[in-house]
Amino acid sequence: MYYPDELVEEIRTKNDIVDVISGYVRLQRKGSSHFGLCPFHNEKSPSFSVSQGKQMFYCFGCGAGGNVFTFIMQYENYSFQEAVKFLADRAGVRLPEADYGGEAKKRDTKRARLLEVNKEAAKYFYYQLRTKSGQAGYQYLRDRQLSDETIRKFGLGFANMTSNDLVKYLRGKGYEDGLLQEAGLAGFDEKHGMHDKFWNRVMFPIQDSNHRVIGFGGRVMGDGKPKYLNSPETMIFDKSRNLYGLNLAKSARQNNIILCEGYMDVIAMHQAGFTQAAASLGTAFTEGQASLIGRYAREVILAYDSDGAGVRAALRAIGILRGAGLTGRVLSMEPFKDPDEFIKNRGREAFAERIAQAENSFFFELRMLQREYDLKDPESKTRFYREIAKRLCGFSEEVERENYIQAVAERYGIGFQNLRKLVLSYASQTGFASPVQRPKSGMGRKDQPAENRRKSQRLLLTWLVEEPSLYPRIKKYISPEDFTEELYRKIAVKLFEGLDQGEMNPAAIISLFTDEEEQRQAAGVFNTRLEELSGKQEREKAFHDILLAVKRNSYEYFSGQLGADMAAVNQVIAGKKALEELSKTHISLD
Ligand code: CTP
Ligand code: MN
Repeated sequence: MYYPDELVEEIRTKNDIVDVISGYVRLQRKGSSHFGLCPFHNEKSPSFSVSQGKQMFYCFGCGAGGNVFTFIMQYENYSFQEAVKFLADRAGVRLPEADYGGEAKKRDTKRARLLEVNKEAAKYFYYQLRTKSGQAGYQYLRDRQLSDETIRKFGLGFANMTSNDLVKYLRGKGYEDGLLQEAGLAGFDEKHGMHDKFWNRVMFPIQDSNHRVIGFGGRVMGDGKPKYLNSPETMIFDKSRNLYGLNLAKSARQNNIILCEGYMDVIAMHQAGFTQAAASLGTAFTEGQASLIGRYAREVILAYDSDGAGVRAALRAIGILRGAGLTGRVLSMEPFKDPDEFIKNRGREAFAERIAQAENSFFFELRMLQREYDLKDPESKTRFYREIAKRLCGFSEEVERENYIQAVAERYGIGFQNLRKLVLSYASQTGFASPVQRPKSGMGRKDQPAENRRKSQRLLLTWLVEEPSLYPRIKKYISPEDFTEELYRKIAVKLFEGLDQGEMNPAAIISLFTDEEEQRQAAGVFNTRLEELSGKQEREKAFHDILLAVKRNSYEYFSGQLGADMAAVNQVIAGKKALEELSKTHISLD
């Protein structure tokens, strides 16, 4: 732990979780919990709960959960330490200079150093643009009709013709070569030694939604190759979870985000007053980006290039948006290629009109689909209609589906009842689409025995959390060492410690973990509802089975360690005895 446990705990208790989360999510009180729409996945009815008593949040839809630190880490994309700082500030708690060690410190320091060096580089490029050697870059941007104000707002800069001046500058500031390479700002080879990666390019600093520079895009002057050179992914630059311009677009309050492909497009739109524009980072649009957008807007207007690649990218994006519960519309820039060119030629009013006319994404898909069929040929036309009907089955909500059937029938001149029948007949074969179940992050496919092991350990903890009065009864059979999963063992140590003193503080236990995924899993332990078992006997048997399974696993685990580890001997001997006793003992749940 970086800061002393007591301090972390003080900061946590001074930031009431309902207060903090209310600043981000509209919450409504229901019984002992507050409910709202989950900011970590998209949903129409609230399954995100915040408990004032437990000082925890948990989403029954996607499994996101944790304490107030977890929330800030996930929402603001902060490390644990950054979240502690943020909440300390909020509560007016003064922090000492962080005094910590180990791997976690290394990771955090590395992150902080990468952020710093990117910021320094951005300053350097920015400054270069304004010097004599940056003249060409500045002229290039002005020729592309960017105002000084816009150039400043986006922090644009220039990487000049010299091959290692950035390296020299950053070394002078005390940054080591390894860091410059890791940040993707410099490369090394035998022939040239340390050299700048970006060279003779106008530079676009890429910021995360908290305005921190996490990478760069550099555009070559004129027609060189590659046209754009981008920073590689690093510890702080995850291309699938960031969008260029979102740091500004998020405060546009337009209820929509205009999504385009290029840096220049974003900038041109912002300059023309469309400050809700953002772009994916030279890679295909991802689910992570969709859920990021979902925090700020419900509708996405796609402004992809009007060429074949742009249309394919739009079709893909539409599917992803739909999966994330967002509405999509498609903007036509015809006869121009991209928003930048459109605005340059037609101006902002014309662009605003195109936004207003942007096509519903379902109709866009149908229009693209139609190109593959010959509607003059009855065979082909029938196949087209069938395909439409199939796609209409994708609307799981009846009202919405009926509305679409009606609109499509009108648009394509199909009889409403006929189309409806066709849709129903497809649905009877395959059913209407149900909401997509997305896998929880970090959890791939699991191997079964390991999963069973985890499950029984998790259940035992959950059971004890729900019914702490059981603890004294089983205490002699079970100890934290029996939890062979490290995460559960850590929880058990703290939980048992508290129970020995007759208290329980789940939110404090979560702060033991500095990793989001671990916090999420720990929160799961405290929020899982045990299966409703009807009879007392049935419940007692279930509890007994779980207890035995945990104990047996621990016994097997330590037996496997025999020979390698002397401490295991005691564990095994005691374990065997406990197991034998336990299998004969009745533990009452009354
Ligand atoms: N891109 C990239 N690498 C390339 C080409 C493009 O990473 N070699 C990314 C950049 O993020 C770029 C976006 O894809 O902004 C769109 O590419 P393109 O349509 O070629 O870019 P424009 O913004 O139209 O470029 P410009 O107007 O500067 O010619
Ligand atoms: Mn362009």
